[in-house]
Amino acid sequence: MRLENKIAIVTASTKGIGKAIATSFVAEGATVYLAVRNKELGNALAEELNQMGPGAAKVAYCDACQLDSYKPMVEEVLADAGRIDILVNNFGGTNPTKDLDIVHGKWSDFSKDIETNLGSVFITSHYVLNKAMVKQKSGSIINIGSIAGITNDYKQCAYGTAKAGIIHLSQQIAVQVGQYGVRCNVVCPGMTATAAVTDNLPPAYIEKFGKATPLMRMATPEEIAAAVTYFASDESAFTTGQVLSVEGGYASVPATYSDDVGSAAMKRKKNKK
Ligand SMILES: NC(=O)c1ccc[n+]([C@@H]2O[C@H](COP(=O)([O-])OP(=O)(O)OC[C@H]3O[C@@H](n4cnc5c(N)ncnc54)[C@H](OP(=O)(O)O)[C@@H]3O)[C@@H](O)[C@H]2O)c1
Repeated sequence: MRLENKIAIVTASTKGIGKAIATSFVAEGATVYLAVRNKELGNALAEELNQMGPGAAKVAYCDACQLDSYKPMVEEVLADAGRIDILVNNFGGTNPTKDLDIVHGKWSDFSKDIETNLGSVFITSHYVLNKAMVKQKSGSIINIGSIAGITNDYKQCAYGTAKAGIIHLSQQIAVQVGQYGVRCNVVCPGMTATAAVTDNLPPAYIEKFGKATPLMRMATPEEIAAAVTYFASDESAFTTGQVLSVEGGYASVPATYSDDVGSAAMKRKKNKK
């Protein structure tokens, strides 16, 4: 029970990685506020999680794309719980049909993605720090970045830039609030088996991405949640400003090698047998 008596907020947590994080936190003894836009889905998940520990999961409304909905959400959690020990800024995403390269992408689409992906991390952290963690002189913020913020791409200019910004912002937060006993770290997932991937990307692309990964598969949401739970717990009490990529080695493969990755990966698979 690494998170016993801790109060946590996990944004955008009705499914996928957010749900896995909330589930892991409840299993470790925390009370989790699911900050969600869809209360019906949020209530259904809270009911499921409350089977693991009565009262362990609650819902707080927050539309992650509306920056003015973060302050009331934080106030609602504080009014109910009296403190906030852990904040996970899990919200993130993009529209691949609009998030193009620098030549073809539009400023309006780019700036909207930066505002929602990066702005949401600033604004939630700002309120949680001011209203709770700085006064408490303790807390752990974990931001969900992406391997897209570390490697580069031929498209998704906005998403990659926002996720890279999240890494730098997290390190700034770590430096600026360490004096109050608050930590801030980043988990960068590689491709992970959630609806964001399986509903939006062609199977051939998913397969190719898997082959370009030394561990030869996608991550599971639970594998991402395990890294987040580590940063949330006192096991990482002296760790702040750090970036943990959970991506099966994807970013370590040299580009020249990944060009030929399909056949190279098949060879490795054969050699393994
Ligand atoms: N999956 C990957 O391969 C991958 C890789 C790298 C990084 N990431 C990052 O991991 C995080 C989670 O991604 P995921 O793959 O778990 O996504 P997902 O399975 O598509 O789930 C998205 C979650 O975000 C919620 N959401 C979407 N828009 C929202 C809004 N405006 N307000 C509140 N909630 C909203 C959805 O809630 P509803 O039920 O209301 O739609 C859902 O709970 C993101 O930051 C993403 O960038 C994912």
